[in-house]
Amino acid sequence: MTKPAVRVAVTGAAGQICYSLLFRIANGDMYGKDQPVILQLLDLPQAQAAVGGVVMELEDCAFPNLAGVVITDDPKVAFKDIDAAVLVGARPRSKGMERADLLSANAEIFKVQGKALNEVAKRDVKVLVVGNPANTNAYITAKSAPDLPAKNITAMLRLDHNRALSQFAAKAGIATADIEKVAVWGNHSPTMYADYRFATANGKPLPELINDETWYRETLLPKVGKRGAAIIEARGLSSAASAANAAVDHMHDWIHGTDGKWVSMGVASDGSYGVPEGIVFGVPAVCSGGEYEVVKGLPMDDFSKAMFEKTLNELLEERDGVAALLG
Ligand code: NAD
Ligand code: LMR
Repeated sequence: MTKPAVRVAVTGAAGQICYSLLFRIANGDMYGKDQPVILQLLDLPQAQAAVGGVVMELEDCAFPNLAGVVITDDPKVAFKDIDAAVLVGARPRSKGMERADLLSANAEIFKVQGKALNEVAKRDVKVLVVGNPANTNAYITAKSAPDLPAKNITAMLRLDHNRALSQFAAKAGIATADIEKVAVWGNHSPTMYADYRFATANGKPLPELINDETWYRETLLPKVGKRGAAIIEARGLSSAASAANAAVDHMHDWIHGTDGKWVSMGVASDGSYGVPEGIVFGVPAVCSGGEYEVVKGLPMDDFSKAMFEKTLNELLEERDGVAALLG
């Protein structure tokens, strides 16, 4: 028997990330091949015609589980009765632009959308914020949606996680699937801290296998941190297919579970690791039964403490930068 359809809202539907993401969701990569999905697509009034074109292409794929598509410029229509939302719609960074410049440009969007989610989404809606600055936009969304559980409003650190996995695998000469327990802490920004201290590959400690702490500190960390900028420099546009892939990974694992494996998710802090409550911070998590649980009690050495503090301070500054907007 066919399952009832789930409703997934995606914002920024005419944009470049969605040109990959919508097709992946419609193909069943997020909810599964046996789960009908209704896509509820939001974009600005001037982008409605372009969204219409994307929807023609979705139709032309004849996806068996695409049970319907809604196109709108009204967040309350897009978010009505949704099970999940991927908030992509925002202005991306262009060449030479710092991430901080995006803060004011995009903060207002997430205040409006948080309020709309609060009014019309299902009470257990799972939200992933992709639009940058993703952590602080998720923080604004959660603060603007006080009737929804803050734990269900998450930010995307999975692209950093996947970037780190690929670099570690290439350096060690192994497959990404061999590696477990990588954690990306903090902000989705160059200050993120891709921590490999607990990582293993085929049962061996990854730091021992790589055996090059200088490479880790001086090459790996800046490479992953600045990967977004390197892609903008090379493509003239920010990452899109890999961002969509990371969004699918994040939601898929949250919905279906990780079988005990660690993934990195930006989640509202409950105060653990000294991160003030409510700050949306990248942490290692395991997922099961449609819920995630933060991996707690990991020890910090001096290097980790310094990395941790840097990325936390950046997030505290971003929070202070939007305090007036949130009243
Ligand atoms: P894009 O410019 O191609 O598309 C953005 C879309 O959002 C446009 O269609 C635009 O009309 C729409 N939009 C703008 N304001 C909106 C609003 N208020 N409501 C609904 N839609 C709105 O951008 P893109 O390349 O798809 O990137 C989208 C965002 O994702 C950017 O902020 C980018 O920096 C971010 N991003 C995040 C990650 C991550 O890892 N977290 C990775 C890559 C990109
Ligand atoms: C990325 O990491 O690719 C995106 O967040 C784009 C950016 O602005 O860095």
